[in-house]
Amino acid sequence: MEFAKRTQEIRISGIRRVFEAADEDAVNLGLGQPDFDTPDHVKEAAVDALRRGDAGGYTSNAGIHELRREIARYVEFPADAEEVLVTSGASEGLHVALQAHVDVGDEVVIPDPGFVSYDALTKIADAEPVPVPLRDDLTLDPERVKEALSDDTSAFVVNSPANPTGAVQSEDDVRAFAEIADDHDVTLVSDEVYDRYVYDGEHHSPAEYGDNVVTVNAASKTLAATGWRLGYVVADERRVDEMVKIHQYSQACANAAAQHAVADTLNAEETDRAVEEMKEEFQRRRDIVVDGLDDVGLSCPTPSGAFYAFPEAPEGFVDACLERDVVVVPGDAFGDCGDGHVRLSYATSRDDIRTALDVMEDVVAELR
Ligand SMILES: Cc1ncc(COP(=O)(O)O)c(C=O)c1O
Repeated sequence: MEFAKRTQEIRISGIRRVFEAADEDAVNLGLGQPDFDTPDHVKEAAVDALRRGDAGGYTSNAGIHELRREIARYVEFPADAEEVLVTSGASEGLHVALQAHVDVGDEVVIPDPGFVSYDALTKIADAEPVPVPLRDDLTLDPERVKEALSDDTSAFVVNSPANPTGAVQSEDDVRAFAEIADDHDVTLVSDEVYDRYVYDGEHHSPAEYGDNVVTVNAASKTLAATGWRLGYVVADERRVDEMVKIHQYSQACANAAAQHAVADTLNAEETDRAVEEMKEEFQRRRDIVVDGLDDVGLSCPTPSGAFYAFPEAPEGFVDACLERDVVVVPGDAFGDCGDGHVRLSYATSRDDIRTALDVMEDVVAELR
């Protein structure tokens, strides 16, 4: 059996290792999805579409027009329905964005630590990831991105709020990223899947400030609907025309029932209220995590968004937590610069978070 070089270069995510080693009843701070269920009215809209007989077949490749129109209304920058491509989650959105803009041997500048897909999808595009270390506050520095650009760079990725750090880029940074993309003629892939979960300050989209941006987002985290596989990409129509070719031949179309349900509910007040409730609960948990880490003595810049914290942790921390049935993810699963940190997800109950913090206190006492 022989396999393509492209798959041999990609490793299975380091997140899986800890999940596999964990006991079934372990307190899990490793999860990358909301622990809430999809709001009822969104589920009902999907069932209605199925019952009407509207969702049993393929849709148009780029997505149903109603959804593309609602997404264009939803985003924070001016957009038309024709500038929207509906994808199977943000994962596919990132994939089509890189496939359509990155040639064999090109470079893609990515944050380090950063979401695991950026490195892997760059390699799947037969291109070279160029990791950029974060600032001490775990945000991505536009100056460092600029320094990392070369004649071979075709794209760079910005993710705010970020996985695995919970960091939110300032408006100045976001504007600077958009300007870099315009000035250097490189495509900025902006992954905004956590845009509704910002606790301090505000979320800003680079597409508000520049033209060379492909915005990637999804219903996954916003609507607690990771299993629905519904994401989207917003970009200039010419970019969408190229990306849809990759999408057409790899996916045909995104999940039809999910498309109808999100079209019917994305801009509804009821949806806004449901998302706001989740956000408030995440924020309460964020505060518990920040206070707890401070008490435990693990240094961590306050995460302003998403549902992750990324504290420094002593060697042996992940395994010692696992032995006490607490799952956390080693920081180096997200890039070499994540070494010496762990990712904690607070997409789990307040009780579980408190239990985990108690365990961490014991672990730190033992390891120091
Ligand atoms: C930063 C980031 N981007 C993209 C994704 C993928 O999202 P989806 O489930 O919509 O494919 C995730 C999932 O964890 C993520 O954390």
